[in-house]
Amino acid sequence: MEFYIDSAKISEIKEACSYGIVSGVTTNPSLVLLSGNADYESMVKEICEVVNGPVSAEITAEGIDKMIEQGRKIAKWHPNVVVKIPMTEEGFKVTAVLAKENIKVNMTLCFTLSQAILAARAGAAYVSPFVGRLDDINQDGVALISDIMEVYELYGYETRVIAASIRHSQHVYLCAKAGVDIATMPFSVFKQCFTHPLTDAGQKRFMEDWQKTQEQFGMK
Ligand code: E4P
Repeated sequence: MEFYIDSAKISEIKEACSYGIVSGVTTNPSLVLLSGNADYESMVKEICEVVNGPVSAEITAEGIDKMIEQGRKIAKWHPNVVVKIPMTEEGFKVTAVLAKENIKVNMTLCFTLSQAILAARAGAAYVSPFVGRLDDINQDGVALISDIMEVYELYGYETRVIAASIRHSQHVYLCAKAGVDIATMPFSVFKQCFTHPLTDAGQKRFMEDWQKTQEQFGMK
C-alpha cells in the first residue's frame, strides 16, 4: 500500500516527504483554503517538485465544456499532475473525454460501489472513496473499500483505489487489510502511523540500560 499526503500546505508536504515514504499528494479546494494560498497553479507545481509521484489537483469549473477545458489545462501544469474530477453526472462525462486523451483522472467524492465501477468504466486512473465521511453518517467506509477491491479484482479493472477521508491510523490499518492500493491522509494521521507508546517506552528503557552498561564497564 502506498502512502499519499492529503494536504495543500507546502511546508507540511515537505516535512512528510522527508521521511522518504510518501509517494503522492492529493489536494482539494477545501485544503487550498486551509493552506492560505490562492495561487493553485504555482502551489501544485511546487508540490510536484517536492514529491516524486502523482499530485491530484481538483477542477473547479462548472459545466461540461468548461470542466473539460480546465482539466486539459491542469494536466499541462506538470507531467505528474492527476486531474481530480467529482463523481457528478457531468464528472463522468468529463472523465471519459479526458481519459481518451490519455489524461490521468482521479474521480473523487466516491461513496458507493456503483460509482466506483462507473469510474473504472469511464477510464479513470484513480478512484477516491471517502472512508471517514461515510463513517460520519453511520455507514461503513472501510466496507466500501473492501467491496471496491473485491469487484475491481473480479473484473480486472486497472483503476487504482485511493482510500481518502482517512481520519486516524485505525482507518489506515483497516484499509491496508482490505488491500487498498493507496491511502491518502492528513500529515497528523501519517505521523500517528509511526507511533506506539510501547515503542517509546521500550526505546527509553534500551537507552537507559545502554547508559548503565557504559557506566558499569567504565566505557565513559
Ligand atoms: C481526498 O482526496 C480528499 O482530499 C480528502 O481525503 C477528503 O477528506 P475529508 O473528508 O477529511 O475532507
